[in-house]
Amino acid sequence: MEIRIINDNCTRCMLCVKDCAAAVWQEDNGVPKAAFPEDCTLCSHCLCVCPANAIEHSGLDLLQIKKIDKALVNPDAYETVVRGRRSIRHYKDRQVPDELIQKVIGLAGHTPTATNSQNVSYIVITDKEILKKISQTIFGFSVKVFHFTQKFPGNLIYTFIRAFSRSEVISRYLDPMPYYMDETKKGRDLILHNAPALILVHAPKGKNFSCENCNLAAANIMNFAYSLSLGTCYIGFLTLYLKHSKKLRRLVGIPENRMVYAALVIGAPAYGHARTASRNNPKIEWLK
Ligand SMILES: Cc1cc2nc3c(=O)[nH]c(=O)nc-3n(C[C@H](O)[C@H](O)[C@H](O)COP(=O)(O)O)c2cc1C
Repeated sequence: MEIRIINDNCTRCMLCVKDCAAAVWQEDNGVPKAAFPEDCTLCSHCLCVCPANAIEHSGLDLLQIKKIDKALVNPDAYETVVRGRRSIRHYKDRQVPDELIQKVIGLAGHTPTATNSQNVSYIVITDKEILKKISQTIFGFSVKVFHFTQKFPGNLIYTFIRAFSRSEVISRYLDPMPYYMDETKKGRDLILHNAPALILVHAPKGKNFSCENCNLAAANIMNFAYSLSLGTCYIGFLTLYLKHSKKLRRLVGIPENRMVYAALVIGAPAYGHARTASRNNPKIEWLK
């Protein structure tokens, strides 16, 4: 990898040296020098911080490195996106153009990753048969669990769990099962919400920060999609199920050495939410 200073442009401000997290840049007799180019994590901080456009770097796409229009950074717009985005569970029966999904994922590629590993990849599923199979598999499992809790010995086990578990999560999903089964018979998809597309966000299996990298990207997908009038919904049921089911992992084509750490459906919302959400104020403890 070739990283170098264009001497005539460099003002010797040393911002490249100060801002380099990998200590690639070092000061050499008052001049910045890329002393350890092989350690570069390709974060592009040096090129972006340089006030004189004095750095050449063979490993980066220079076309992407553009002057930021600060006037476009609008806190009110950002706050509206974050407060206005909701999980969408009803979609119009229409495909999202591939280019739009590509645009959303393209921006998610700018999400930070640990040591700039950029190890997050995506599988986009629009095949209706595969989407149906995923929903049926996961909902079918819930139905089996529900039936198990309806007769001996499952009913005893369930009573025991309810009495001693502090979490209401299981009962919250199992108690309404008769209603959910009825809705499913009418054509409702309670797992992928009949969305036209599913985005699986994956990274190396079991590696430090794989989960964090994927979920930060997922958050950007949800927010950017909302700004483009698209709806999304995080599908935790699917990521949970994929962890345990080789069959489903095969169905979605996830390689053996990768794991899906976030899954989102995306599509045109069937209806919108005109008002922002009500949320608990975050509990903050200050140590001053
Ligand atoms: C980790 C995680 C898992 C989730 N899993 C599901 C899911 O499987 N199905 C679903 O419909 N919503 C799921 N959601 C959406 C949440 O229920 C939703 O974000 C929450 O109720 C707040 O509503 P809002 O997103 O509309 O503001 C999940 C959200 C997160 C963050």
